[in-house]
Amino acid sequence: MISIKSEREIELMRHAGHINYLTHEEIKKHIRVGVRTEELDKIAHDFIVKNDCVPSELGYEGYPKSICVSINDEVVHGIPTNRRLKDGDVVSIDLCVDYKGYHSDAARTYIVGSVSKEINDLVETTRLAFYEGLSKVRSGAKIGDISQAISDFAHSKGLGVVEDLVGHGIGTSIHEEPDVPNYGVSGTGLTLKSGMTIAIEPMLTLGSKNVCMTDQDDWVIVTEDGSPSAHYENTVLVTDDGYEILTGE
Ligand code: MF3
Ligand code: CO
Repeated sequence: MISIKSEREIELMRHAGHINYLTHEEIKKHIRVGVRTEELDKIAHDFIVKNDCVPSELGYEGYPKSICVSINDEVVHGIPTNRRLKDGDVVSIDLCVDYKGYHSDAARTYIVGSVSKEINDLVETTRLAFYEGLSKVRSGAKIGDISQAISDFAHSKGLGVVEDLVGHGIGTSIHEEPDVPNYGVSGTGLTLKSGMTIAIEPMLTLGSKNVCMTDQDDWVIVTEDGSPSAHYENTVLVTDDGYEILTGE
């Protein structure tokens, strides 16, 4: 079932979204060569808790940390460890915040030190792909409108679009119906309605769209061909005439 949030629920999600945004701003200050990914996890955890919220990835289906930190060929669900960021890394931070039982979900990708123009473009195109998808959101639009806008844009820049991982509804749990894929056909799929809350999250690669698990742990998902990837995500409220980004400024 797809839930339509009440004004009270939207207010709680706005707050969860705002703390999510502020947590990303806090982490961003510490992204530099030499920082350990578990240090970023601790900064996020402490900031979220200090703001009377709960880091909702911690313990989610057994996930052991408060944020996901995915580096280079890691697309999503990288577990923070004592690994240090190094010059040339592309690192995505994905985190969820729970305020009084309502969740927000957002991801950002950063460049560490200096990288090639190709990788710069990958990161910027992934961010812009989110906005391409977002521009389709309004009551009455179809999920496929978002999906096609994202994949058309990514393909026009020669990038791979990960299909095995998708955006999703969000509310009283991190993952709700409906799926919000980053590929599809406009005019098809579920009709969006005012009061739905969805996470739109393009995951793009410099190579193949194919991803797989490693034997490193049961979480991290990497590109099959080892190519770098980027991820950008916000939690979005559908409104009569468009949208509101709940995890933005
Ligand atoms: N934030 C992720 C998403 O975008 C969810 C991660 S679940 C975790 O859907 F357990 F891996 F943290
Ligand atoms: Co998500």
